[in-house]
Amino acid sequence: MPATVIVGAQWGDEGKGKIVDLLAQHSDVVCRYQGGPNAGHTIVADGKTYKFRHMPSGILWGKECVLGAGCVVDPQVFIEELDGLEERGLSTEQVHLSGNAQLIMPWHIALDQASERRLGKLQIGTTRRGIGPAYGDKAARLGIRVQDLLDPKILRQKIAVALAEKNHWLERVYGAEPVGFEDVSHRYESYAQRLRPYIADTSLLVDCSLREGRFVLFEGAQGTLLDLDHGTYPFVTSSNPIAGAAATGIGIGPTRIDAVLGVAKAYLTRVGEGPFPTEIEGPDQERVRELGGEYGTVTGRERRCGWLDLVGLRYAARLNGFTSLALTKLDVLSSFAELPVCVRYRLRDGTETEEFPAHQSDFHHCEPVYEVLPGWEEPLDGMDDVSRLPEAARRYVSFVEQALEVDVSLIGTGAAREHVLAQRGLAAIARP
Ligand code: IMP
Repeated sequence: MPATVIVGAQWGDEGKGKIVDLLAQHSDVVCRYQGGPNAGHTIVADGKTYKFRHMPSGILWGKECVLGAGCVVDPQVFIEELDGLEERGLSTEQVHLSGNAQLIMPWHIALDQASERRLGKLQIGTTRRGIGPAYGDKAARLGIRVQDLLDPKILRQKIAVALAEKNHWLERVYGAEPVGFEDVSHRYESYAQRLRPYIADTSLLVDCSLREGRFVLFEGAQGTLLDLDHGTYPFVTSSNPIAGAAATGIGIGPTRIDAVLGVAKAYLTRVGEGPFPTEIEGPDQERVRELGGEYGTVTGRERRCGWLDLVGLRYAARLNGFTSLALTKLDVLSSFAELPVCVRYRLRDGTETEEFPAHQSDFHHCEPVYEVLPGWEEPLDGMDDVSRLPEAARRYVSFVEQALEVDVSLIGTGAAREHVLAQRGLAAIARP
C-alpha cells in the first residue's frame, strides 16, 4: 500500500510544504491530517509565490487534496484560499473536506487571544488563530463540526449552546467583547453554501484510493517537538503532528502506512515561547534569520534561530520512525566558517546524554554539547547533483545520517522547486 507520511522533525517551519509539493507530482492524493490555519506553507512554483494555511500543497499539481477529521478548519480562511486558487485559474474541484473536521468559531479566536493576554509573561506564544480552544472544545464534546454546516437547525442550536458558555468566559473572565448569536449564525450559514460541494467522507475516499493502488501522501503540519503528547509541553500546539497521527487524523489503520519521511532544517528554528537549548547567542542568530528568511508565514513573527540539534532529531526519529530524512535549507549555512552541531545535552548534575530528556526540568536546564564541523563557505546555487556539493557540505549531511542512522534522501539548496537534490529518484521516495 503506497502511503507516505511527511512530518516535521523539529519545531515546525522545516520546509515541509516544498517537499510535499515536490513529491506530490508523483502521487495521486495529498492529505492534511491535523492542525489548522496555524500552519503556513510558502511554495515558489513557476516564479509565483503561493501561501497556504489550510490547503495541502498538492493542489498546485492538480492532485486530489484532503483535509481529514483531525484538522480544525477556519471556514473564512479556507474559503479565501479556494477563491484565491480559482482567481489564479486553478481548479478546486478535487478538494475534499472531512465532515468530521472541527470548525474554528469566532469565540475560539477571541479566547485564544484573551487567554494569551491574560497569561502575560507565561504565554505560550500561540499563533492566536483559535487552535487550542477549538481542540479543547473537541475534547470537551462542545465542538461544532463541518457536517453541522449542512443542517441550519443543528448549526444554530449548537452555536446557541456554545455561546451560552463562551460569552460568559469572554465577558466575565476575560473582560472581552461577547460574540453575537445572529451575526455568527448568518456568517456560518453563508460559509455552508460555499463549502457544501467539498464536504466528503474522506476516510472512505482515502481507503478507496489506497485499495486502488493510488499513491497517497500524508502531510503533517507543525513539527514533532510541538506535538501535544510528546513535544515540549506546554509550549506545543494542541494536536499531534507526529506520523502515527496520520492514521487517526484521516481514519485509516496504522498498518496502511509504508514510509515516513522526516523533514528537518540543516539548522533549527522555533517560534513562540519555550526552551531551546541550541538557540544562538550573539550576532549569528540575526545572520541565520536574515539568510534563512526566518519570519513566520502566518504571524510574521521573527523566528528564534539555533544550531542543528541531533538530540532533538534523534528523538524525532524515534517518535516518527523515519524511513528517510529531507534536510532543507543547507544553503543558509554557506557563509559560516564553522558549524556547531549539538550531539549531546549536559544535564544539571554534569552527566551527558544523547537521549531527549523525559523530564521537563532536565530539558529546561540542559546545555548543548557541540561538535564543530567545518563550513564550506561557498554558495550552493546551481548545484544540480549531490556529488557536486562541496566536500564539507557532504560531510555535514553524512554526519547527520550517521548520528540518526537514517538516510538523508533529499537536500534543500534554495527556495525554488528545483533546488532540492535527491540522493535517489523522487519517484522512489514518493512511491516506496
Ligand atoms: P498554536 O498552534 O497556535 O496553539 O501555537 C502553539 C505553539 O505552536 C506556539 O509556539 C506556536 O508558535 C507554535 N506553532 C503553531 N503552528 C506553527 C507552525 O506552523 N510553525 C511553527 N510553529 C508553530
